[in-house]
Amino acid sequence: MARLVMVSNRLLAPRERGSRAGGLAVALREALQRQGGLWFGWSGEIVDAPSTTVRTTTAGRITYATLDLSQDDYDAYYTHYANSTLWPLCHYRLGLIEFRRAAFQGYQRVNTNFAKALVPLLRPDDIIWVHDYHLIPLGAELRRLGVTNRIGFFLHIPFPAKEVYLALPDHLALGRALTHYDLVGFQTRNDVDAFLGYLEGETGARVSEGGYVEAFGRTTRVQALPIGIDTEAFAETARVAASATETVRLTESLSGRSLVIGVDRLDYSKGLPRKIEALGELLEHRAQHRRRVTYLQISPPSRDSVAQYRTLRREIDAIAGRVNGRYAEFDWAPVRYLNKSFSRGTLAGFYRIAHVGFVAPLRDGMNLVAKEYVAAQNPEDPGVLILSRFAGAARELETALIVNPFDVDGLADALHRGLTMPLSERIARWEPMFDALRANPIDAWCDQFLAVLEERAELGSGVSGSTERSAAVA
Ligand code: F6P
Repeated sequence: MARLVMVSNRLLAPRERGSRAGGLAVALREALQRQGGLWFGWSGEIVDAPSTTVRTTTAGRITYATLDLSQDDYDAYYTHYANSTLWPLCHYRLGLIEFRRAAFQGYQRVNTNFAKALVPLLRPDDIIWVHDYHLIPLGAELRRLGVTNRIGFFLHIPFPAKEVYLALPDHLALGRALTHYDLVGFQTRNDVDAFLGYLEGETGARVSEGGYVEAFGRTTRVQALPIGIDTEAFAETARVAASATETVRLTESLSGRSLVIGVDRLDYSKGLPRKIEALGELLEHRAQHRRRVTYLQISPPSRDSVAQYRTLRREIDAIAGRVNGRYAEFDWAPVRYLNKSFSRGTLAGFYRIAHVGFVAPLRDGMNLVAKEYVAAQNPEDPGVLILSRFAGAARELETALIVNPFDVDGLADALHRGLTMPLSERIARWEPMFDALRANPIDAWCDQFLAVLEERAELGSGVSGSTERSAAVA
């Protein structure tokens, strides 16, 4: 059986619990643990001088191979290009984009260095699977170094509509880089259509049956493969966690009040200010909820090397303070806003006792919190998921209370509906969502991606006539 080589910017170290690193790393570890393999990426360390030394360590069935980044590389690749250019672009926030040519060069440089460090670790029949926007050029760099293995790429965040993507001065370089992969996977059909629409409109690409696209002299397969979670295992974790000390303490602290829970990295794509404002609106216009509801918003700080994230933090501090200042009583505060992370096990218990899961990103590739909230519910007394229509998860969790996250009044209405929804309706909405999660667990996502990649390789990969690829291979 061919070995799987996963490549992602961030890895989850063998004993790391997972709350700090974000959903992607947790999902990848779950996928790798099952079939074993190599996991390659950034060590999370910043060092003085550029480093080419790969450190490897094996734990269970996974071998971890990591590379440090120099401060200059970290600034250009991670802080600037990945998180101040591509991240706002893909989340439709053109006003927040900072573009610097030097940052693009740094991004390319790190991708080249990653490719050079990875090549000596590769075996001829390895299947290489590259993840996310940090590493778009990696496949082309590997090809340039002569790698002929199957290489797939998955974008965990949205691919923006053509007119938005065109704002990126390097749109062509990255579009071309993506076509060096044998398979490019996206979270939703919407992202696939946006990518293909761009290629067709701007490069004269031809799209044919089965998601094959011919562009820049190569044929690439493009497919929507929404990522799932380990549904049954998470449901069981939540069932057990319902009687864990933290869950019991949380329940006692509520004194019979209803709990609304939000768990989001502190990121401007998550719609945090409007979520808290919506709670204020609810309390302002529906007085029956005053003293009767507690909103627990858990938001671990994220990417604080990026100025916009620091600004956002101050903004949310102010909004949470304002809502509490206006509505709190001496023995109750409507908002509990926490800048810390909890283990997934603890969160599972919190989700289970929460009457409402509040997920309202302005744009999100998938949103695994929404899926985990659903999986964690008690089937006999499930809570209500409020879910942004702009999260990829809304395509599968259609019976959630779907909201427009820009509409604060609409969010307040949804909170009211969620908090007062009768049991029969809660069950009728929850059951199809849980079934959808069971039908697409993380294992199936992984298997399906690899199966499509394999199928693609059997059909003969890559070049469709022109000399571009052979010229690029050293
Ligand atoms: O899903 C997007 C993503 O960038 C992941 O790649 C990452 O694991 C998560 O968000 C957290 O972001 P960061 O690695 O920048 O802390």
